[in-house]
Amino acid sequence: MTDKLKSLIPDTLTEPKSHAEMMKHKRLTENAFPHVRMRRLRQNSALRDMVRENQVQVSDLIYPLFVEENIDTPVAIKTMPGVVRETEKTIIDKMKEVADLGIPSVMMFGVSHNKDHHGSDSMDPNGLMARMISSAKKAAPNVAITADLCFCEYTDHGHCGPINERRDVDNDKTIENIAMQAVIAAEAGADMVAPSGMMDGQVAAIRHALDVTGFTHVPIMAYAAKFASVFYGPFRDAAGCSLGHNPNVPTDRKTYQLDPANAREALRDALLDEQEGADILMVKPGMPYLDILAKLREKTDLPLAAYQISGEYAMIRLAAEAGALDYQSAMMESLLAFKRAGADMILTYSACDVAKWLQK
Ligand code: PBG
Ligand code: ZN
Repeated sequence: MTDKLKSLIPDTLTEPKSHAEMMKHKRLTENAFPHVRMRRLRQNSALRDMVRENQVQVSDLIYPLFVEENIDTPVAIKTMPGVVRETEKTIIDKMKEVADLGIPSVMMFGVSHNKDHHGSDSMDPNGLMARMISSAKKAAPNVAITADLCFCEYTDHGHCGPINERRDVDNDKTIENIAMQAVIAAEAGADMVAPSGMMDGQVAAIRHALDVTGFTHVPIMAYAAKFASVFYGPFRDAAGCSLGHNPNVPTDRKTYQLDPANAREALRDALLDEQEGADILMVKPGMPYLDILAKLREKTDLPLAAYQISGEYAMIRLAAEAGALDYQSAMMESLLAFKRAGADMILTYSACDVAKWLQK
């Protein structure tokens, strides 16, 4: 050992005085520098490849899609570069592209022109939700269609269920409706349903409704821990479900979505969805809530999903457009973080880009 190196190690470690001290010295030095050098396994890409603990694969991805009725051409969403509202015709080609890229599933959102207090168009077998599911399924039979179940895209006030006399979203009426919506989605060909309204009892209500109508085989991906997040902003533009323009209803979703300050409550809420029969638990948003994902991973054996939401996508995309980040590298690193935290699958608006990058 060079004198220079010796000087980096404390005397107590380099000059043992008794047998006990010598044993301690041995333990400490064998498990530490200079015997241990973490950089050994980082020195080239072959070694790094061998010790890599997580990776993002195309089979991890779920691609969220917006379908708007009564439009002739796809509409770009300004705050989400690269994302559009598909028409009921263009969704067919889009589904074929998704299938060709090997993306296993899409999550479908309708952009309604037929809104009312309850969002009844989404409970109509000829409504937008049923139509878009069945045409997507026909276009790409091997892609799993996951139907987002909620009412905010179909209600004229923009909330995730009807409003009661207390000026609040009516929980029990909403779960009655969402159970109906689930059956409509399953009849239209949905392979999986994903209730996102954060109503109490919604998973149990949906499981029961699917089971008594012959859809025992349709799994439920529960938006299990969904926070009242400001990062949903671009989505609400995309799906046309922003709040604040109607003074007669609440201007936020804080009476049903989780408080961003609460981790224990989020875990309790998510585990209730497991008890009610959820097959997959989702945490949403993704990156600001990695702690919730990691903690939930310790508490359940169900598969977990992370939703990299509109605001997260916008931050990465717009930072890249401003020249502050490289889109591909930033996106891949953020997706890897979900895998590391315990996600089995990831919803991301970048799914098609990622699939193309992974092919190279
Ligand atoms: C509606 C819904 C939202 C998102 C998915 N489903 C918005 C909200 O709750 O306000 C957000 C998705 C995103 O921001 O990408 N229940
Ligand atoms: Zn909603």
